[in-house]
Amino acid sequence: MTEQHLLWNDKKSTIDPKVMAFMAGNDILLDQHLFLYDIQGTASHIQGLTEIGLLIEQENQSFQSALIQLKEQFESGDFVLDQRFEDGHSAIEWFLVNALGDLGKKAHTGRSRNDQVLTCLRLYMKDQLQRAQQAIHPIVETLLSLATDHMNTLMPGYTHLQRAMPNTVCVWLAGHAESLIDDMYGLANARELLNASPLGTAAGFGVPLPLAREQTAQLMGFDRVQVNPFYAQNSRGKFELMTLQSLYHVMLDIRRLSWDLSLFMTAEFNFISMNSSHTTGSSIMPNKNNPDVVELMRAQLAVIEGAMQEIQAMLSLPSGYQRDLQMSKAPLIRAVQCTLQTLELVPGLLNALQFNEKAMSEAISDDMMATDQAIEAAKKGVSFRDAYLDAKSGQGPTISAQDSINNRVSLGGAANPGLDLIRSRLEGLVD
Ligand code: ARG
Repeated sequence: MTEQHLLWNDKKSTIDPKVMAFMAGNDILLDQHLFLYDIQGTASHIQGLTEIGLLIEQENQSFQSALIQLKEQFESGDFVLDQRFEDGHSAIEWFLVNALGDLGKKAHTGRSRNDQVLTCLRLYMKDQLQRAQQAIHPIVETLLSLATDHMNTLMPGYTHLQRAMPNTVCVWLAGHAESLIDDMYGLANARELLNASPLGTAAGFGVPLPLAREQTAQLMGFDRVQVNPFYAQNSRGKFELMTLQSLYHVMLDIRRLSWDLSLFMTAEFNFISMNSSHTTGSSIMPNKNNPDVVELMRAQLAVIEGAMQEIQAMLSLPSGYQRDLQMSKAPLIRAVQCTLQTLELVPGLLNALQFNEKAMSEAISDDMMATDQAIEAAKKGVSFRDAYLDAKSGQGPTISAQDSINNRVSLGGAANPGLDLIRSRLEGLVD
């Protein structure tokens, strides 16, 4: 077995390798996703120690260049995070001691791996929430541009999956766009809450040093300091869950959009078809063109839900750091990855769609104008309930599907879809 570099080992004790493997597990592999953030947190901590005179500027410089080297070696694959290390945090310290000798041993002054892991996870979540927000932007733009192109493309509107009233492709797609914009606000809100630096809270009780917490927070790009060290520990898992909840809403919308697409692509509906760039064939049925990608997009919400449940179940804990909390990393990273991977595909998928305008407008049957007929009569003074009964018995005025759409003038309706208003909410978001 390769020699392990354990921070806490005084060489007098020997830990059973099986126990060690159980505890570290795939944690070191997960830390690959957090490593650059951990290096960033360490660089800020070292800078902070310099601010309060525990390191001199020359030592700071040595640390900073060693950390840059570590970052570069990690990115190029020359430094590998593997089972030699208990975790990414130990790997950083090992590298610094290796590169700087005794000076490296000063890196962990006034810090615990508990605030170290909190810090890198927080930087990771902030970044991934921003990436998700940025990935939704082109989806919204594509939906709104298709909505503009199809302002007057008629389609049936359904409730209970039964024909209800005429609708337009514009209103259908702009609805998904507006919903996704709300989700972008949800991501921004989550980011806002976790935009607080836990660095300097150490093991959950602070340290007997006047750490430059405000400065290190600023260096890492946090808006503020998370004040209470005890709460900092208790926020582990809670903030992961908050991140997943905001991703959940995004993927819930993607599931609904995927569902609509897969339904409208059936021969029975025949409203939409998709270019071969996005369909797959069958191994046995030569006639098949399957929308597997849409179905897999629909299924991704299950990953988020599962991840949330894992964290929720694990979080039944007393206050303070518990090693159980390590188990929140895998579901967090899994959910983030599956969300980002899905979102990236959506604009291309939307651009691969063709709308079968003829089939859509032919699917609008005359009975779908009954509501318009009742309202038309009500506009002329008949009470709505009487007009409703007249329309139900087929005695309403004649109204075409096109008239029905043209008359939908209140804000958001087919004749006044408010696309600019929807788009303008994008401007309220900080990128
Ligand atoms: N891998 C650990 C985690 O994710 C790092 C923190 C270890 N802290 C400790 N006190 N053992 O929680």
